[in-house]
Amino acid sequence: MKMLSSDLLAMKDKKPISMLTAYTCPIARCLEQSGVAVILVGDTVGMVEMGFESTREVTIEHMEYHVGAVRRGAKNTHIIGDLPYMADNDPNTALINAQRLIKAGADSVKLEGAKLDVIAHLVSSGIPVVGHTGLTPQTAKSFKKVGNTSSEAEKVTVDAKKIQAAGAFMIVLEHIPYTLADQITQALSIPTIGIGAGSKCDGQVLVINDALGLGDYWPPFSKQYGKINEEITKIAREYCYEVESEMFPNNIIQFTGTENR
Ligand code: KIV
Ligand code: NA
Repeated sequence: MKMLSSDLLAMKDKKPISMLTAYTCPIARCLEQSGVAVILVGDTVGMVEMGFESTREVTIEHMEYHVGAVRRGAKNTHIIGDLPYMADNDPNTALINAQRLIKAGADSVKLEGAKLDVIAHLVSSGIPVVGHTGLTPQTAKSFKKVGNTSSEAEKVTVDAKKIQAAGAFMIVLEHIPYTLADQITQALSIPTIGIGAGSKCDGQVLVINDALGLGDYWPPFSKQYGKINEEITKIAREYCYEVESEMFPNNIIQFTGTENR
């Protein structure tokens, strides 16, 4: 059954939280079937599905479209909708945009950085918020690990604590040293969800395209559980061969009588 933000919060120190991204209805259907705890409709959609160089090209309209598609495929799974770049610049703009994602089907929203007044405003308006610190791609100049120096590590730690204090019920820690992620996870009372942050977080998130082996780049900290690129190419090649050699659709018409359906 669909988990609420309170259920996810209660999983801290009890059971690791599984999270995958999804952007489309058929993938969302499969993920719900798999029993994944949470689906994130991330603004990574801009890079892994739309072919942009960064997530900064993604708009609130794009996010509404994808949140809606994912909700139609996964009616009983907790869905987090990402607030895209600039959509959360001030508390009032953020509230309008968060409400748009909730209306499109999200159960909660995620936003990058220690925007404490924004988080507090959304939470006090009844919108569950997931924080995100460490590497924050909307504003990062590179995709390098964050927190290798002691001053950087200190900032990530302080930001995580502030994000919790502002009212977030969960927080993503992206691409930070594993010992730092472990320390932050122990210091916080809300669940931490790691990506490139080691095994000591309260949960893990993986971009579905990375897990599938779909795309042209997968971060080194990701894992490919399949080779979907190869599978799609193989299917398309077989189809082209059958059309060009006049096998398809003759082979299905002849044997299954599909022309009468
Ligand atoms: O947009 C996204 O998919 C994310 C995850 C990588 C955490 O924010
Ligand atoms: Na994101």
